[in-house]
Amino acid sequence: MIIKSLKLKNFRNYDLLSLDFDHATNIFYGDNAQGKTNILEAIYLSGTTKSHRGTKDRDMIQFGHDESHIETVIEKNNVEFKIDMHLKKNSPKGIAINKMPIRKASELFGVIHLVFFSPEDLNIIKNGPSERRRFIDLELAQLDKLYLNDLANYNRIINQRNRLLKDIYNRDDLLSTLEIWDMQLADYGTKVIERREKFVEEMNGIIEAVHSKLTDGKEHLSLSYEKSNGGTELFEAVKKNRERDIRMKSTSVGPHRDDICFQVGNLDIRKFGSQGQQRTAALSLKLSEIELVKLLIKDTPILLLDDVLSELDKNRQHALLDSIENIQTIVTCTGVDDFVNRRFAVNKVFYVKNGHVNKEN
Ligand SMILES: Nc1ncnc2c1ncn2[C@@H]1O[C@H](COP(=O)(O)OP(=O)(O)OP(=O)(O)O)[C@@H](O)[C@H]1O
Ligand SMILES: [Mg+2]
Repeated sequence: MIIKSLKLKNFRNYDLLSLDFDHATNIFYGDNAQGKTNILEAIYLSGTTKSHRGTKDRDMIQFGHDESHIETVIEKNNVEFKIDMHLKKNSPKGIAINKMPIRKASELFGVIHLVFFSPEDLNIIKNGPSERRRFIDLELAQLDKLYLNDLANYNRIINQRNRLLKDIYNRDDLLSTLEIWDMQLADYGTKVIERREKFVEEMNGIIEAVHSKLTDGKEHLSLSYEKSNGGTELFEAVKKNRERDIRMKSTSVGPHRDDICFQVGNLDIRKFGSQGQQRTAALSLKLSEIELVKLLIKDTPILLLDDVLSELDKNRQHALLDSIENIQTIVTCTGVDDFVNRRFAVNKVFYVKNGHVNKEN
């Protein structure tokens, strides 16, 4: 699939913007704080209903305005889809696909598939478990509609259970209601865990070869899913921890506390890897994500590369660029250096300055 065009109105630092993309590589370059990432954010938002930065709708609307409009046109198997999105200051966003309003954001599911790659992704192994869960959740939310639903239900139950734990602290007559929440928690939680485990397994089928290539055959990388409930069934584990949960006023086991372990040979590189090793493995993870998505959707996703090239040495830049051939890619960078020019001679280059974009070729 490709994105053909993007129109923005009062989005971040863009008053009005209208862009047509090349089907291959598109480069947006310019100084810091000019609006490069904002363009990728708008695309990601129109595909997933959420900002990759986790920003609230109202904060993406241009200062001084009450509404933003984003229009993207996608082409998939020679069919065009137009996605219209209206962000509003004081009410939920409005979305339409080919002019038909949709009521639930999940109806957008499957229309467009995006892979976002930013410099922060290179720290995913060094950072804490929440970043790794976020990675897996963002990807699965695009790949599996049931997962999206199970995860939303799970998160809702965790919030409600935590609120109840606070109330029980002062009112132990509420204790008996916990059982019902715990059953639901275990029910949705188990589904979330099973789908994540499957994802890790699917990634494992790809990442070993990708990483081996990146390290000239020196390293064997594998992933494993780490459950906070260990080998115990989730419901049993939650039950076992009730007392502690009431004391702590929060839920201590479940997929919201799980992690993914990255091992090179027998070494847990989250803890013992060198920084270079962790970053290379993170690159392998993103490259494998692209490969897995291609396999599962039987199409190419659209790749959004936010300032990543400058973070990589020449070898790794080449590895990245080799593996994205035949995928529409939208790249941001601060300078179009010789390397990028040589590599992307035929495609579109845009210069971004203060909320304005000029096409250069
Ligand atoms: N709601 C908003 N309304 C107007 N302008 C905004 C809004 N939110 C952010 N901006 C402006 O957008 C600009 C940042 O845009 P963006 O993050 O796209 O920069 P960038 O070109 O990617 O920079 P860098 O190279 O540093 O990553 C800043 O100048 C900021 O003031
Ligand atoms: Mg940026």
